[in-house]
Amino acid sequence: MSANSSAAAVSPAPATPPSDKELVLKVIPMPADTNGNGDIFGGWVMAQVDLAGSVIPARIIRGRMATVAVKEFIFKQPVRVGDILSFYSSVTRIGNTSITVDVEVFAESFRNQGQFVKVTEALVTYVAIDDDGKPRPIPK
Ligand SMILES: CC(C)(COP(=O)(O)OP(=O)(O)OC[C@H]1O[C@@H](n2cnc3c(N)ncnc32)[C@H](O)[C@@H]1OP(=O)(O)O)[C@@H](O)C(=O)NCCC(=O)NCCS
Repeated sequence: MSANSSAAAVSPAPATPPSDKELVLKVIPMPADTNGNGDIFGGWVMAQVDLAGSVIPARIIRGRMATVAVKEFIFKQPVRVGDILSFYSSVTRIGNTSITVDVEVFAESFRNQGQFVKVTEALVTYVAIDDDGKPRPIPK
């Protein structure tokens, strides 16, 4: 085996978007969203997860809310300019004042659509807040 072949890039494992989650956001990153290597900046992806994660809680909370916690971002695959990112979400917990959702992110090539790679996943918790910014009960 040559040095070149042992250094060949490993193809990312194909993944299937979850059928039990709702597609809440699709977005295509642009060059302005890159880091110094030309790959998409992780902070940009995190911001999109926060936006995507807020969609279902907003439907339930129906009013002002704030992100209180995000549990673990792990990035195993780079995202490239022009990839299509799809964000899937489902509710994992509804408490007295907070809602937690599980958001999964998948990338697919713009030109070769339908083949997905999982980019990251996070649990995001949103708190319903009142006009003073204090927690308020989730509407029944
Ligand atoms: C969100 C905020 C109003 C909550 O007020 P608080 O007094 O800290 O919250 P509480 O301890 O009363 O908890 C409120 C809810 O949040 C949940 N929560 C608090 N800390 C949490 C954590 N680390 N992880 C998960 N859930 C958490 C609590 O379990 C509770 O939910 P429940 O009522 O459904 O059980 C307040 O922390 C805040 O204003 N934070 C800043 C929010 C913000 O600006 N976000 C953007 C950051 S850039």
